[in-house]
Amino acid sequence: MKAITVPAYAKVNLCLHVVGRRADGYHDLRTVFQTVSLHDTLEISLHPGRGMELTCDDPKLPIGRDNLIWRAAEALQNEMKLDRRVSVRLKKRIPVARGLGGGSSDAAAMLIGLLRLARCKLPIDRLSEIAASLGADVPVFLFGGRALGVGRGDQIFPLPDGPPRTVVVVSPRGIGVSTRKAFGWLGRKLTKAVPDLKLWSFCALCWSPQEGPLENDFETEVFRRYPRLRRIKRELLRAGAAGAALAGSGSAVFGLFPNPAQARRAAQKFSGDRVFVCSTLSREEYRFALWGRGGFARSLGDGR
Ligand code: C5P
Repeated sequence: MKAITVPAYAKVNLCLHVVGRRADGYHDLRTVFQTVSLHDTLEISLHPGRGMELTCDDPKLPIGRDNLIWRAAEALQNEMKLDRRVSVRLKKRIPVARGLGGGSSDAAAMLIGLLRLARCKLPIDRLSEIAASLGADVPVFLFGGRALGVGRGDQIFPLPDGPPRTVVVVSPRGIGVSTRKAFGWLGRKLTKAVPDLKLWSFCALCWSPQEGPLENDFETEVFRRYPRLRRIKRELLRAGAAGAALAGSGSAVFGLFPNPAQARRAAQKFSGDRVFVCSTLSREEYRFALWGRGGFARSLGDGR
């Protein structure tokens, strides 16, 4: 196999609690990720020689080492001592700086695609380490579906899939939020109720088939700075969303709808913004799309 095409799916957070500041400058999180069908696409090919080449259909995106795809490829080339030139064509659909994990997902898709293409095997622990070194949000995209994230959000515990939902993602025109700044805005206002919660009782909450309310600790501070985002959330709820929340640290706002027709009607209310009507993606759907028919087993060997 000389070329491979892999999707890089977006995520939303069904709940996101920021529970404390860490000595390494990051924050400890309790979050439930859910992957959705909105996605970028990477076409990866291997050629004789060395190095890396990245092109993108969005001219605004960096295509050098600033791009996580580049760093993901480099990390794996070094790890596997891969003596080939890696070429990637990125079709960018996930809006940037919207809390949808697009850059992180691209990086994970690069790791998975390159492993498959080079027919390499790597233990999952080592692959997760490489993913976490690229960014806190990268490891969840090795698994997809619904997953609990703790630590920096990079320690992943897969959760059972929830009922399928249609998701309306509103990416507000002209508002982008830097994750680093959003964490700074929280200041001392970190969640007080969650720290003592035992990991597994937290998981049990998330397993509830009725699904608890969506919660996101960033909303207060981000909505205060961008009141338009609060209005988008209200509008989604008025249009029949079972729940609506900020995606990650924003600025996208998403709503979960019980049926696609209602979701499409709701989407029409945001004609000035970029709106995506997509669906939740189960772990099995995710695994098949990213890892292929052989699934994890083909690529996640013991490294020998
Ligand atoms: O890991 P990543 O580079 O994607 O994170 C971007 C920024 O978000 C970090 O530099 C850090 O300031 C902040 N962050 C944090 N705590 C986390 C995740 C990210 O403070 N758990």
